[in-house]
Amino acid sequence: MDKEAILKKFKPTLDNILYILHDLQDENPQHYLSKDDIKVCADYLNIPYSYTHSVASFYTMFSMKPRGRNIIRLCDSPPCHLMGSKSLLDYLQRTLKVTTGETTKDGIFTLELTSCLGACGVAPAMMVNNEMFGNLTPEKVDTILDKRRKEL
Ligand code: FES
Repeated sequence: MDKEAILKKFKPTLDNILYILHDLQDENPQHYLSKDDIKVCADYLNIPYSYTHSVASFYTMFSMKPRGRNIIRLCDSPPCHLMGSKSLLDYLQRTLKVTTGETTKDGIFTLELTSCLGACGVAPAMMVNNEMFGNLTPEKVDTILDKRRKEL
């Protein structure tokens, strides 16, 4: 969907700013808000670029720098910790050769930590883009990563 089509989904009112920024980020293959994305949103809402930029940079759900095609969000809250998320984090970091917040050299994955994903019943859990995975083991993680690599 191009940017114009995204904008058309929403009335040009300030209360839609987060929805618009969210959709613009989702549509960006590098999962971030570019300067052009911010400008497009600001122009559409008829508000200053600086205001739009400050809103976007306030929320952790928005990234202002390019990320991988797949955003891995590993849950870092206590129930997942108890079920082994720390060793999964070590495993992901070793396997992907990145630390938290970094993107793999091939641009396929960005590794992030998040608080509770609401999937404590299947801890440890993580999301990859909009898909949830639970009861994770290193073997399951390998399968998920392989599948995502093949989807390119
Ligand atoms: S604590 Fe990890 S999903 Fe809730």
